[in-house]
Amino acid sequence: MTIHFIGAGPGAPDLLTLRGRDLIASSPVCLYAGSLVPEQLLEHCPPGARIVNTAPLSLDEIVAEMRSAHAAGLDVARLHSGDLSVWSAMGEQLRRLRQLAIPYAITPGVPSFAAAAASLGQELTLPGVAQSVVLTRTPGRASAMPDGETLANFARSGATLAIHLSIHHLDQVVEDLVPFYGADCPAAIVWRASWPDERVIRGSLASLAAQVDGSLQRTALILVGPVLGSEDFEESSLYSVGYDRRFRPQSADSPFAGFADERGEA
Ligand SMILES: C[S@@+](CC[C@H](N)C(=O)[O-])C[C@H]1O[C@@H](n2cnc3c(N)ncnc32)[C@H](O)[C@@H]1O
Repeated sequence: MTIHFIGAGPGAPDLLTLRGRDLIASSPVCLYAGSLVPEQLLEHCPPGARIVNTAPLSLDEIVAEMRSAHAAGLDVARLHSGDLSVWSAMGEQLRRLRQLAIPYAITPGVPSFAAAAASLGQELTLPGVAQSVVLTRTPGRASAMPDGETLANFARSGATLAIHLSIHHLDQVVEDLVPFYGADCPAAIVWRASWPDERVIRGSLASLAAQVDGSLQRTALILVGPVLGSEDFEESSLYSVGYDRRFRPQSADSPFAGFADERGEA
């Protein structure tokens, strides 16, 4: 018996991994975070499965569901939106399960920042422009930010920012970032990336707030950084003609000669 934590992806039902789908199909119990997990994923549950929306439950009540499945020897598919490594509240559930000696496993999912980048048609790291992506958020009613994790501190690096859980603080986000990126820095909002009603708004830090109306609540990412829309970047060495590398040695004298049969593309 195992509690399978499964990243349910950003919204589109076919952005679920094959492993995730198969685990849902083989688990007689499904606990899903109903606020963001698309209901179509529940169609993979086996007939007669116990299906529980955990959005209105407390941690104690969720763990009670897991304990009773464990006592009955039933596998559980535990669905959270996007990937489980960020803002999933998985950590506290895992800690309880370790205390209770209930086995668990984790199956990653497509995170919302990746879905938003896809909706923008955008790589978030471009040579010579930005080579880091900061996944962050602003403080919420229930979640203070640790000291040091301020937008200003991240902005000093010039990295691409993917700001979660913050659309309701857009004005403050802009105010915090303009001193570092400049008012003209490209910025975007992707609301409900990969859902049928997805909306994409591109602009600059200065223009973004005026482009958004009150209908874009909750499930939105704010992306900021010079990579957005930039055509002024270097090509990577990876595919450049003449770049001597393990998988494309340029001569018989190359230190990489002999390795060319191995696979190694990015
Ligand atoms: C509780 S966090 C969950 C993050 C999730 N674990 C992930 O991997 O992206 C919810 C926040 O993620 C972002 N988010 C989740 N799904 C999204 C989507 N489809 N489009 C845009 N943002 C999304 C929003 O910022 C939302 O407020």
